[in-house]
Amino acid sequence: MLVHVPALLNGEQLRHFVERLHAADAPWVDGRVTAGHQGAQVKQNLQIAEASALSAELGGIVLGALERLPLFISAALPNQVYPPMFNRYEGGMHFGSHVDGSVRLLPGSGAKIRTDLSATLFLVPPESYDGGELLIEDTYGTQSVKLAAGDMVLYPASSLHRVMPVTRGSRLACFFWVQSLVRDDGQRALLFDLDNAIQRLHATGADEAARVHLTGCYHNLLRMWTDV
Ligand code: NI
Repeated sequence: MLVHVPALLNGEQLRHFVERLHAADAPWVDGRVTAGHQGAQVKQNLQIAEASALSAELGGIVLGALERLPLFISAALPNQVYPPMFNRYEGGMHFGSHVDGSVRLLPGSGAKIRTDLSATLFLVPPESYDGGELLIEDTYGTQSVKLAAGDMVLYPASSLHRVMPVTRGSRLACFFWVQSLVRDDGQRALLFDLDNAIQRLHATGADEAARVHLTGCYHNLLRMWTDV
């Protein structure tokens, strides 16, 4: 399941992000520092150093925005979110086909996080650069994703994906992983669908007793499938 989350960040936040990421003292490093063996062979981009103050500051803003967004909660059913990271592609940089590492160590604590979902948050307008599409191999074929600044895509971390070469301009993005309460993508997609239908029934004032039962079904399925 691919989910498009519109307008996670507003215009003022985006201006702040771009200004800070383009500042002369922004700590850009080779993106291969966080790639596993498979990823390192196909990865060519820049990243903000993971342990930097800038990464913590901007990542904190992203986490705050996620907490206020019902669509993210409903689609991801987050248990843990990996601290957001930031990358940049320009001058032909790209990231070849790969699957994200399944388990990552949380910086600092060393605790493990299972990557159920991958997220890419686009930080600059799509017309400001050529290329840079995120291609995701989904059950319905390959999806090409290049979103408006401030929009995010959530997709199963198990899917093969790649970033096409950026041949003009600079592509700035934020990316992170989510360990979900429900590890199976199919189960999570079904719950998301059910939740959307229940919200719609609420909004249209449908039969209350039936709504209560459906909400009960939602929670009992979530209880059955929750993995904490
Ligand atoms: Ni990836």
